[in-house]
Amino acid sequence: MELSQRAQALPASPTLAISARAAELRRAGERVFSLAAGQPDFPTPEHIRRAAAAAMEAGHTGYAPSAGVPELRAAIRRYAAERLGVEYADDQVVVGCGAKQCLANAFLALLDPGQRALLQAPYWVSYPAQVRLCGAEPLVAPAPEQGLLDLAAIRRGLEGGARLVVLNSPSNPSGQVAGTEEIDALAGLLREFDCYLVSDDIYERIVFTPEPCPHLLRRHPDLAGRVIVVNGVSKSYSMTGWRLGWALGPAPVIGAMRRLQDQTTSNAVTFVQHAAVAALESEPEVVDAMVRQFSRRLDLVCRLLDDIAGIDYRRPQGAFYLMLDVHRLLGRSWRGRAVDSAARLAEILLDSQRVAVVPGEAFGAPGFLRISIAAAREDLEQAVARLGRLVEELD
Ligand SMILES: Cc1ncc(COP(=O)(O)O)c(C=O)c1O
Repeated sequence: MELSQRAQALPASPTLAISARAAELRRAGERVFSLAAGQPDFPTPEHIRRAAAAAMEAGHTGYAPSAGVPELRAAIRRYAAERLGVEYADDQVVVGCGAKQCLANAFLALLDPGQRALLQAPYWVSYPAQVRLCGAEPLVAPAPEQGLLDLAAIRRGLEGGARLVVLNSPSNPSGQVAGTEEIDALAGLLREFDCYLVSDDIYERIVFTPEPCPHLLRRHPDLAGRVIVVNGVSKSYSMTGWRLGWALGPAPVIGAMRRLQDQTTSNAVTFVQHAAVAALESEPEVVDAMVRQFSRRLDLVCRLLDDIAGIDYRRPQGAFYLMLDVHRLLGRSWRGRAVDSAARLAEILLDSQRVAVVPGEAFGAPGFLRISIAAAREDLEQAVARLGRLVEELD
């Protein structure tokens, strides 16, 4: 069958592929230690589950406005006013089926075929695929040695005519957070080049620093007309399967995103939207308790990794991932098999030690492995010990 060029060019998500292979091994009765998860391993908090059940019982089971139910739009605007310091009008918010849909629609609203969007490596796997779906071209700024952003490369991309920049802080996969100096420099570039910023804030609540994650709009509220903020309940409230996200930004862009939803998915699940109001109105402790757990696990994993020779890492300040730099292991071999890439190392790790990780190639970071700390402490201990065992077996 002849598929459209658009469909043919669309790659399968590599993170989902690894999880699928691990699930296959599990079905065959194998014990697999997965450090590939992209979601918190906690149940959705009880008050949110109850709010969903109550909304269903109250009859919130029909179609709703594509832009989201008014109660949730209002709650999102209050949340943004509190966290970002920006007062958005009602026509500046749209609720979607996860941050992922909001990102895709933001790109569709802003990018024409042939235009360019700047991504900072290492980047979340769906950005380049979504940009290409618009017929646009992703330009990638190489991963910096320090910090989150390669500002010189971003400047070059903007000089080359890129129309928008994507910022993801804290970042999946690196867990790095943009510092205030980077944020200010990026704000300067947005002003100078009159371009848009898509700020993917999905991990914004999950930070291990005493102070909150610096946000461009908190420091430069005058740029609100050029920034599309994307966020959702998936990571902060452990609600990945509920599929609920939102975007805030200039009314013409949000209007286009609403029309895209009108003609494709319509509204996010109606009773989930009511549960999302309960999530956004939660006590901060609901999120903070989860962040404390991640922070303790991060300490544990870093301690264990420090004992493995040949693996380097930069300690993350947020999200729940670490990028392991395995460049020093490449060129070695395992039982006659050449370890010539991180992807090959990940394959061998799954085959020989039953540990699933995501190779960095998927994030524009060859020579790295992404591990997730969204797993039980015992599993983290076992998995890192097994990684160490494999490294010892390399010739
Ligand atoms: C950086 C980043 N953005 C967006 C998303 C999508 O989130 P959602 O579940 O709200 O669609 C993810 C999920 O893994 C992510 O890691």
